[in-house]
Amino acid sequence: MIGKLNHVAFAVPDLNAAAAVYRDTLGARVSEAEALPEHGVTVVFVDLGNTRVELMEPLGEDSPITGFLEKNPTGGMHHVCYEVDDIIAARDKLKDQGVRVLGDGEPKTGAHGKPVLFLHPKDFAGTLIELEQA
Ligand code: CO
Repeated sequence: MIGKLNHVAFAVPDLNAAAAVYRDTLGARVSEAEALPEHGVTVVFVDLGNTRVELMEPLGEDSPITGFLEKNPTGGMHHVCYEVDDIIAARDKLKDQGVRVLGDGEPKTGAHGKPVLFLHPKDFAGTLIELEQA
């Protein structure tokens, strides 16, 4: 069902500082910051060629990563994103297998303008999974 690893995401308390570490210390290609109000985060993407790293900072009052950063004040790995060909077919197949889809279960538009869904970490070895329609 799942295809490529699209990205690994880190929640960070200071997006500019984290972007500078990847750009200046590690010498990576880092995108401009992009606000995603629907997801409550501002993000940059680090292009590694075979995959990407997403750095996310809270945006707005009820950002979904605020609680994570309270538990992990210096930041940490938040989710991994796998590609699927058909997100509705993947969702329905996973739900049939008892997987918990977060939110209202309907895909939202993600950072790359494509539909995304999140799956409960307790159903996947303790890791929050994002599915993105490739
Ligand atoms: Co993501």
